[in-house]
Amino acid sequence: MSTTTTGRLAGKRTVITGVTGGMGRVACRMFCEAGARVIGSDLDEAVGRGLEEELGAAGHDFTFKAADVTSEAEVEALAGFVRQRWDGLDVLYNNAGIILGKPLLGTTVEEWDRLHAVNTRSVFLAIRAFAPLMGAGGSIVNISSGGGARAMRNMSAYGSSKAGVILLTKVAALELAPDIRVNAILPGTIDTPMPRNFISRVPAGGEREAAWQALGDGRPLKRVGLPEEVVPLAIFLASDEASFITGVDYFVDGGRAAA
Ligand code: NAI
Repeated sequence: MSTTTTGRLAGKRTVITGVTGGMGRVACRMFCEAGARVIGSDLDEAVGRGLEEELGAAGHDFTFKAADVTSEAEVEALAGFVRQRWDGLDVLYNNAGIILGKPLLGTTVEEWDRLHAVNTRSVFLAIRAFAPLMGAGGSIVNISSGGGARAMRNMSAYGSSKAGVILLTKVAALELAPDIRVNAILPGTIDTPMPRNFISRVPAGGEREAAWQALGDGRPLKRVGLPEEVVPLAIFLASDEASFITGVDYFVDGGRAAA
């Protein structure tokens, strides 16, 4: 799939979280291809260094810095690293996240808290740490989920944590205006390790294939999406082309929200 984004983020100093996962990895590559300078963060130092080497070899300006997005101290340290490196920031892309599929009555307090820490508190911590580095024209893009806007069985912790991201986005848009725009993206099922691992509990073989197929069939476009179909919207929202857009949540879900 080819998407022309060359130069649309020329020189934009960008922080992306969750960069070693499915969508984060593609986001780093596509943001760099669009001309951004990127500091990417995730948990695993070795995997992150591998990504840094890969993008560096392709001539991109990408640096990896490990951080746990649930930790106030580590997010603040990441902001300190960015301040030292660039003395400012143009784009924050909050992408890190985890999923849990469990009935509400079987969900433990630890699981509930973990989901909200990784998916929601992380966005609060990052906005609080990075917004002070962003001047006029700054843009924050938060990855929520279609599951944050639609009730689904076994998704009480995940859905509520992602619903929190939607409202947090809108409040931040109000409070950080007029300098910084804040928007959210709500992907439907996208082919990354997250739904693949999730579905790996279905018995291997035809049954698993059928379950995967059913994820696609549930939406008008009859398939799951690709990271390359989500990231271009993030690039648009991060760019100056979206200069009059803030406080909005966008579905990228093959039409599921309309069905
Ligand atoms: P993924 O599992 O491939 O990537 C998530 C990344 O977040 C991983 O690299 C992981 O190490 C990182 N991460 C987890 N906990 C962290 C922590 N405490 N600190 C720092 N990094 C941490 O998943 P995928 O699909 O790439 O997901 C990206 C975002 O998109 C997530 O927020 C997810 O909830 C959201 N999303 C994904 C959908 C999908 O179908 N793939 C659908 C809707 C939303």
